Amino acid sequence: MADWDGAGYAHISGLQRAMATDAVSAVPVAGTERVLDVGCGDGFVTRLLAARVPAGSVLGLDPSPRMIKTARTADDQLRNVDFQVGDVTTMTCTGEFDLVVSFNALHWVIDQTTAYQHIAAALTPHGRALVQYVCAGPRPSIEDTAMAVTADPRWSPAFTDFPRPYLHLDPATLPTIAAAANLVVLAQSVTDRTWDFGSREAFTQWCTVGFTDWTAHLPPTEIPPFVAEVVTRYESLTGTPGLFRFLQLRAELSHPTPE
Ligand SMILES: C[S@@+](CC[C@H](N)C(=O)[O-])C[C@H]1O[C@@H](n2cnc3c(N)ncnc32)[C@H](O)[C@@H]1O
Repeated sequence: MADWDGAGYAHISGLQRAMATDAVSAVPVAGTERVLDVGCGDGFVTRLLAARVPAGSVLGLDPSPRMIKTARTADDQLRNVDFQVGDVTTMTCTGEFDLVVSFNALHWVIDQTTAYQHIAAALTPHGRALVQYVCAGPRPSIEDTAMAVTADPRWSPAFTDFPRPYLHLDPATLPTIAAAANLVVLAQSVTDRTWDFGSREAFTQWCTVGFTDWTAHLPPTEIPPFVAEVVTRYESLTGTPGLFRFLQLRAELSHPTPE
């Protein structure tokens, strides 16, 4: 499990913040909920949620200690937010949360069934879950491009037996995965997104933070040329420096309604 650079992420995550802010504003809340934010990263979105539930509370969970360290350092007045190091595939929360959310984290989880089982276990009987993450589509993704680069002779010795660290779910399979976790999908959508970083340099910075699973296998001097190769190859697909295209799966889930 990669330890993401929390301070670096806080600096370059405008894209993720825009995606999650959009989703958070769409969540109806009474203001009293107890909320779990799975894969909370630097906690920016977790704090947005905390502000929306002033009489409730939010727990942000992330396996990356550096992300949690950054999340804990924010200097604001919110008293109803807490952060813990934790992984969705091993978390042990039971029946505690009215709302479980996860933004752009679950595509880093290979075992989707276990992730949804643990999300289901964390929910109260009438709780709901809102998840949003990158899903499979017809175009090669930036992560697919990074995997292709690992096969190059220059890089392959560093990536012997390197397992693909991400999973882009086929949206059509979500209802079955949810059912295996005793959840039903209440609503589901896929949106084709384009994000213009404005320059190759800005896109490279974003990739450098987000490619931690790959760069953790490289000596520091090899990280910039590896990321540059991925960006160059991806640019040849989009035709425009700094342009990023991805699909966002958004789904709302709950336990099946009792008869
Ligand atoms: C792109 S960041 C998203 C952070 C935040 N949710 C946001 O929208 O800004 C992805 C996060 O997923 C986390 N992550 C990766 N694997 C995870 C797992 N198994 N369980 C929970 N979080 C995970 C990473 O540590 C990272 O902080």
